[in-house]
Amino acid sequence: MFKEVVKIILGKSNFKDNSNDPEAVRYRNSEVKRYDVINYLISKYHVQRYLEIGVLKGENIRKVNAPHKDGVDPGAERHIAPEVNYRMTSDAYFELIKDRSDIQYDMIFIDGLHHADQVQKDIQNSLNHITPGGFILLHDCNPVSFESQLVPRKTVVWNGDPWKAFVAFRGHYPGMQSCVVDTDYGIGVIRVSDLSGKKDFNVPTWEMFHSNRRNYLNLVSWNQFKALY
Ligand SMILES: C[S@@+](CC[C@H](N)C(=O)[O-])C[C@H]1O[C@@H](n2cnc3c(N)ncnc32)[C@H](O)[C@@H]1O
Repeated sequence: MFKEVVKIILGKSNFKDNSNDPEAVRYRNSEVKRYDVINYLISKYHVQRYLEIGVLKGENIRKVNAPHKDGVDPGAERHIAPEVNYRMTSDAYFELIKDRSDIQYDMIFIDGLHHADQVQKDIQNSLNHITPGGFILLHDCNPVSFESQLVPRKTVVWNGDPWKAFVAFRGHYPGMQSCVVDTDYGIGVIRVSDLSGKKDFNVPTWEMFHSNRRNYLNLVSWNQFKALY
């Protein structure tokens, strides 16, 4: 993000500068960050084992208070933080552990490649390695604008389209507890329970989603979230 701002000033960015869009400003200034949501759940539900998919510089994982932390990142953005103990894609990591039913996490934070099909795969693979009642969290579930969710990326502030994967999951499992905390670009939270009886569901168009985000995402404030979880 900082590098992109410098590139804009130097006239070298390929991306449109949307950093002053009201929603981008609101989320950039969020007082509650992704690690606050994560640490709240860790402390309340005694989370022991944490996996982060997409670590970048380690800004988030470093603040996470779980006793055991694994980090997966292939270095696609030319950074490998010391917290990355599996330097590979999420697909490669899940392939590596596919026969290891003993490897289970109480929380998995999905923040790797922000393309809906990849996020959907990351959710699906995570379900094989999550403890009952465990949490799957996703970053960037509430895009700041239509342009910020386009794939391939067009803007400086870019969310990608994880919202589609999150909305699809909620549609497939309407009985499962899930919401998006309205802070830091939208933190999707799924509390994993019974996976039987998957329902058919079609992802809405952008227009349908945008006009009814609160329902599609179950968008809640930080205070509402703390009352629910
Ligand atoms: C948005 S950054 C992660 C930020 C970090 N979670 C944080 O909160 O500070 C996305 C990261 O995902 C990584 N990534 C890209 N493709 C990936 C993949 N297929 N599997 C896992 N990580 C991937 C990139 O290398 C990049 O470091």
